[in-house]
Amino acid sequence: MNDRFSRFGTRLAYAASQLPRLAWYAGHEAVLRRLAARTRRSPSGGARPPVQSNAPAPDQRRIYADMFTLLRQDVANVEAGIYPLPNDHDGSLLTRLYRSQLFFADLPEIHRRRERNEFREVLTEKTRGRWPDYYLQNFHFQSGGWMTNDSADRYDTQVEVLFTGTANVMRRQALPQLFERFAGLDQRSLRLLDIGCGTGRFLDAVKQAWPRLSLLGLDLSEAYIRHARRHLRRWTRIDLLVANAEAIPAPDNSVDAITSIFMVHELPPEIRRIVVKECARVLKPGGRLILLDSLQRGDEPAYDGLLERFPQKYHEPYYRSYVDEDFPAIAKQCGLTHRRNVKAFVSKVMVFDKSATRPF
Ligand SMILES: C[S@@+](CC[C@H](N)C(=O)[O-])C[C@H]1O[C@@H](n2cnc3c(N)ncnc32)[C@H](O)[C@@H]1O
Repeated sequence: MNDRFSRFGTRLAYAASQLPRLAWYAGHEAVLRRLAARTRRSPSGGARPPVQSNAPAPDQRRIYADMFTLLRQDVANVEAGIYPLPNDHDGSLLTRLYRSQLFFADLPEIHRRRERNEFREVLTEKTRGRWPDYYLQNFHFQSGGWMTNDSADRYDTQVEVLFTGTANVMRRQALPQLFERFAGLDQRSLRLLDIGCGTGRFLDAVKQAWPRLSLLGLDLSEAYIRHARRHLRRWTRIDLLVANAEAIPAPDNSVDAITSIFMVHELPPEIRRIVVKECARVLKPGGRLILLDSLQRGDEPAYDGLLERFPQKYHEPYYRSYVDEDFPAIAKQCGLTHRRNVKAFVSKVMVFDKSATRPF
């Protein structure tokens, strides 16, 4: 009986924190759709032909059903004691309104770049050579690429609107794979590295589950690392570094787990291979690599049409190669064994282990 009450309490508390959040971002999405429809009807709008694909795409009902399955999994993870009731730390109403304003203010610029297929504004005399060429693009057609404070402050609203408020929920689906790896171990003796940590939302979820774990987050963007430092300041045992995942500033065999969330689809194929090799070098024997990113072609055939349209709408230059990439084969070449894939709405969690007996 007590068990039933406590389950009911957990679900109620979960719904009370997540449903308003979903509604907030669904509201943004609805406004976005209306603005897009109005732009298409205007005389100057929609100069580029709409994106075509013959592959099937899910209807709204299917999308909502899959979102619901994801939320049920999230609450099941809480009930199983894998992580506590999540706190998304979205900030005060004022902060959220400020970020919404940043989000909406950038839409005309995004539209302009999309129409003209312009995505190289961040490749300038000042940036050329300081960052890899593949990185210096306006990913998602967003202003500032990865280079500005406004871009960092706008990013989480953009991603949550894209996924109707489920981006953090999907990120948390990497945690059960860490839970399995950390079972029976003292979290104070463990070290986790998150590459391409962005604004630090995933690291926040990791800290909520394992507050004494030592974390290292790295990202090539100074602005995103600054934002992550602010966002994560309530936690201790956490280092955030501006660094390239192609040359991880950590010794061989030194970390227990490496995660990367929504990053590998933004890397050219040859760089993906370098990064996975670096991860294999830095992982301890028996360590685990978790890549959480978009579904790939054929994972959910009903979504294949969405996967085809996405890179054209959001400037994702390496996404087409990503959807057909063979990650288990890349990992194998680097000495990592593919354990499993776990689908989570429009994302998937790919799990790889380094052999416990054979150092890299
Ligand atoms: C789509 S964002 C994902 C951010 C975050 N992991 C999340 O959960 O939203 C991709 C991130 O990868 C970073 N990035 C891209 N290439 C990188 C590289 N070679 N080394 C380090 N970070 C990189 C970008 O700066 C950006 O913050």
